[in-house]
Amino acid sequence: MTTHLDPAPVSGSPPPEGPGEDPHRSLHSETGARPGEHPGRPRNPLVKVAGLAWLEFEKPDLDRAGRFGTDFGFTVAGRTPETLLLRGRQAAAACLVVRRGPSPRFVGPAFAAASRGDLDRLARGTGGTVTAHRGGHAVLLRDPSGFPVRVVHGVPDLPALPGRAPLPLNFGSGPARVNAAQRPARRPAEIQRLGHVVLGSTRFRAALDWYLHTLGLIVSDFLYLDGQRGRGPVMAFIRCDLGSVPADHHTLAMALQPRTGYVHSAYQLTDLDEVAASGEYLRERGYRHSWGLGRHIQGSQIFDYWRDHDRAMFEHYTDGDVLDATAEPGWAPLSASGLAQWGPKATADFTGTKDPGVVVAAIKALRDKDNEIDLPALRGLIKAMGS
Ligand SMILES: [Fe+2]
Repeated sequence: MTTHLDPAPVSGSPPPEGPGEDPHRSLHSETGARPGEHPGRPRNPLVKVAGLAWLEFEKPDLDRAGRFGTDFGFTVAGRTPETLLLRGRQAAAACLVVRRGPSPRFVGPAFAAASRGDLDRLARGTGGTVTAHRGGHAVLLRDPSGFPVRVVHGVPDLPALPGRAPLPLNFGSGPARVNAAQRPARRPAEIQRLGHVVLGSTRFRAALDWYLHTLGLIVSDFLYLDGQRGRGPVMAFIRCDLGSVPADHHTLAMALQPRTGYVHSAYQLTDLDEVAASGEYLRERGYRHSWGLGRHIQGSQIFDYWRDHDRAMFEHYTDGDVLDATAEPGWAPLSASGLAQWGPKATADFTGTKDPGVVVAAIKALRDKDNEIDLPALRGLIKAMGS
């Protein structure tokens, strides 16, 4: 198959084999692409977006969504009978837009364009239109999975709110704390900002190529099905190309799944104690824990996963990797045990292996030929989530 993603000049050659020379060493659990594999770089993208601006949801009960939001660590930035805006502490537009709707659902992500001119370029390149939106401008696109994707510019930032400083930690030499105890409170987190969103898609490869070409995103890590590397990646951790400016290891992650939909979104906290102590607070309030604490491999974040009243998954994280544009994609096999360096085993709640809805979706996806789900892929995904 030919795509617009033929190897770009900067990323064509495989990494050297010597252990001391591999540029992926310490960044990835495995090495880079083999010749002819997906380069993870677009050759000539329409634009290069600057970041993930916000996520849009619909919920039937905005009061309940607001309660989870503030317990989870957001600050309410606005509320009308029809809309709830939740924000982090850093200067930015509200990062969750929750509208009243008949049933709970994720609507889509909004990415920030680097310039107003990029919106015109996107509109020209996609047949879209630039419209006024939330005090700025936006182009509304649709990705191959069917998600509406907004690209925005000029939406005013809310001013920063004071945030907690990291705890001073005593290490082996030169204590930072003398005659002072460590007492992290069990209280709601103070979310700093939106980090990333993870989406499942029955049309993973088409969606991956679309995001790279349309928004100029680049791949940090690919995961493939063990024994089926030849079919290409089935998961990608994707970041913004900010040149020499370091960007989050992933702003968007996508995985081939039998059901297209939202998987989770992640929000940055100050430090490990904040993740752990705010998790205790959520536990005491009766919220459903999904998986954690642990430290991821791809992206290295210390993570903890929770579910809201509608079973939507939200992640607290701290200490994630940041990469500039020179770091090339790593390749590793997908497995449940490969999702963390330390921490409890990935739960069935997190991997979805006990969700009867997934079985129904898998049967439907197999019957429907207009997607990338086939029997070997399903077998490989089931095996990966059990290994
Ligand atoms: Fe995550």
